[in-house]
Amino acid sequence: LKAMILVGGFGTRLRPLTLSCPKPLVDFCNKPMICHQIEALKAAGVTEVVLAINYQPEVMMSFIKEWSPKLGVKIVCSQEMEPMGTAGPLALARQLLDDGSGNPFFVLNSDVVCEYPLGDMLAFHKSSGGEATILVTRVEDPSKYGVVVTDGEGKVERFVEKPQIFVGDKINAGIYVINPSVLDRIELRPTSIEKEVFPHIAADGKLFAFTLPGYWMDVGQPKDYLLGLNLHLASLRTNSPKELASGPSFSGNVLAHPTAKVGGGCKIGPDVSIGEGCVIGDGVRLSNCVVMRGVKDEVALNGTVVLPHKEVKESLLQPSIVL
Ligand code: GDD
Ligand code: MG
Repeated sequence: LKAMILVGGFGTRLRPLTLSCPKPLVDFCNKPMICHQIEALKAAGVTEVVLAINYQPEVMMSFIKEWSPKLGVKIVCSQEMEPMGTAGPLALARQLLDDGSGNPFFVLNSDVVCEYPLGDMLAFHKSSGGEATILVTRVEDPSKYGVVVTDGEGKVERFVEKPQIFVGDKINAGIYVINPSVLDRIELRPTSIEKEVFPHIAADGKLFAFTLPGYWMDVGQPKDYLLGLNLHLASLRTNSPKELASGPSFSGNVLAHPTAKVGGGCKIGPDVSIGEGCVIGDGVRLSNCVVMRGVKDEVALNGTVVLPHKEVKESLLQPSIVL
């Protein structure tokens, strides 16, 4: 069983985190975002993951070198020469995805978090007789997503990407099961699966929706990233409470990396994740936030001008220019 993760977007909405690191490798709950997905894919029987990349290939290669053995899954790259959108990468990696067996494969956006019910979704797909199945969820504001309109049996009647007017509140959660036959519908050029592929499969009555149980969030924007953290920690509280921090310094749901040090008299929580190697001083109060790996003392700048590509290593309390 194979899977493709679309990791080629520029992640502009998650800046500044994505200035130094591609979005799919930004830590979420103390590991690169896509590690959560690869773990879930492995649990659903996937043995090979194809990363569809379009920039910073060196960073992705070193990710693969570090994480492929840790996760126990074969990870390969399909490198685009220009951004191929969300469908073009499937055409480009056709040889890697279609092994001739006719078996379906998974496709995932790299920035969505949920409990990944991939095994159930695959079983649903096989029983539906469709060409593709989309994971769907309900949201309050569907306008920034792809909206899916279904009949009573889960057959998709319409797929509208980022609708300007209300068409429904069931949205594309960014996870698909796709038959190799769909590859015949995709031209080898930059193209969008949401705008140029799904509407056609829906018109042929071959597109199905599987409703996601549990939480979901696209963590590609800072505000949503924090909401996603809150939801993910709540889900850990239900499903795997031992992973959460406990003790007098912690309240609510807190994830602390085993190598992180927390000082005395702190009040940490609710909804905090503390990354690898972080050192939290005495008497610190933290809530609803993420301390990324390796974070140390804060740096304060007072009326300072920082030129591009310059690093600030210590506090500058008098107005100055870093050049
Ligand atoms: N390889 C490659 N090449 N990947 C790309 C490219 C590209 O040119 N452009 C975007 N991607 C990847 C992104 O890295 C991300 O993983 C995924 O494709 C979706 O792109 P986003 O930029 O995050 O799209 P979105 O959030 O606005 O909308 C998509 O996700 C929603 C759910 O979160 C759509 O699929 C919507 O229909 C959906 O509701
Ligand atoms: Mg997104």
